[in-house]
Amino acid sequence: MKTISVIGLGNRGTEYMGFIKGFHSKKAKIVALCDIRQQALDDIAPIYKISEEMQFNSTKDFFSKGVISDALIITTQDASHFEITKAAIETGYKYILLEKPVSGVKDEYRLLRDMAEANGVILIICHVLRYSNYYSKIKEIIESGQIGDIVSINHTENVGYFHFAHSFVRGNWRDEFTSTPSILAKCCHDIDLISWFIDSPCVSVSSVGDVKYFRKENAPEGAAERCLGGCRAKNNCPYDAEAFYITDPFYKAKFIKHMKRTLTGKAKNSKQDIVDALKYGDYGKCVFLNDNNVCDHQLVTMKFENGAVAVLNLNGFSQKMFRECHIVGTKGELIGYGTKLKMNIFGGKSGTVWTGSPAISGHVEGDIRLISGFIKILCGERNDLKNVTTIDATVISHDIAVAAEISRKKGGEKVLLESI
Ligand SMILES: NC(=O)c1ccc[n+]([C@@H]2O[C@H](COP(=O)([O-])OP(=O)(O)OC[C@H]3O[C@@H](n4cnc5c(N)ncnc54)[C@H](O)[C@@H]3O)[C@@H](O)[C@H]2O)c1
Repeated sequence: MKTISVIGLGNRGTEYMGFIKGFHSKKAKIVALCDIRQQALDDIAPIYKISEEMQFNSTKDFFSKGVISDALIITTQDASHFEITKAAIETGYKYILLEKPVSGVKDEYRLLRDMAEANGVILIICHVLRYSNYYSKIKEIIESGQIGDIVSINHTENVGYFHFAHSFVRGNWRDEFTSTPSILAKCCHDIDLISWFIDSPCVSVSSVGDVKYFRKENAPEGAAERCLGGCRAKNNCPYDAEAFYITDPFYKAKFIKHMKRTLTGKAKNSKQDIVDALKYGDYGKCVFLNDNNVCDHQLVTMKFENGAVAVLNLNGFSQKMFRECHIVGTKGELIGYGTKLKMNIFGGKSGTVWTGSPAISGHVEGDIRLISGFIKILCGERNDLKNVTTIDATVISHDIAVAAEISRKKGGEKVLLESI
């Protein structure tokens, strides 16, 4: 039985723990927990029967015990990933699963790659989409040569207006200085996929984007700092927090459990807890009068050494959350919407080559398969790391995101990857 510790008991950490308990309980178990929130420890420790000695309120206390499990999962917020992972490698952990993004600072993520290599550490980053059936199918078709050599990729990440406002205007990823720019926080997955499909070094990048809509000058007349604080514009505002989180039947139906926990900080919460969270916390603030600064739209163009080009569109304004991708090859093309993949072979067959359920395909399925893959590697059932999202692959996507930000801040100037 392999043992695993988890640092960061929020949405991601608890989801991964659930998969380990639910699907891999014969091979691995959670033995230690660390979170700076006592509430999180109190909520989660009983579920996994973790003794008090194996619960930690700080990473300092956790690492002071030395290596206490075979593997470590790090699912804290973005800004802490570098320091915690560095401490984990220095302490002697050999199997580490780390949430993305690793860091927005190139010297930091590159240092972790070098430290992992020097210390024989398997450091896997949670680029979950690569593990889904849908994206695995795209990769398989590309590798089979059916569509020829890739000429271009046009990929759009439609974040969804609800999700964008929740996470990138009001939530944890609204400020590039406390988290990372949205092109890294949200789209490092997309850049990773594009690089994985094209499979050639990126040579140059250019990018434009900004905060177009979620700014003070766009606040409607009568807007207040808080939706529950006397806002006179709330009835016509699609971003009204009361509708988002309490009254709108559409969101009530879609209101997934973890969002309530995000709002209230509690696993079990009452309606009053949610009202209080909107009155006093981040998620009740006006989307136009907040302190957000991450781009709500951004385009990145990339040129690769093998001649292929790609355009990534980060779009914060769609009705639905979905990624669309058009991959053009010399012999055919792939057109995908996440739940459906169509292939046209020029002068040959056309048709749907893959379909999946909207509830499970993509992210959730990728999450489940990422954990299965990690457990296999940990248990020695799998030795090759082909298509596994180790830190080396992450350095590629993070370099492209960093270059995109340099370009964007210089008004879209071309940036050579070798120059960053
Ligand atoms: N792979 C993906 O597709 C994906 C999707 C969403 C989020 N993420 C990433 O996962 C990470 C976690 O996101 P989340 O939504 O679970 O966040 P969250 O805020 O729900 O959870 C983070 C937890 O870490 C704890 N924490 C923070 N700093 C800590 C520290 N120094 N030591 C110990 N505990 C600490 C917090 O108290 C909290 O319980 C983020 O970096 C996010 O960008 C990845």
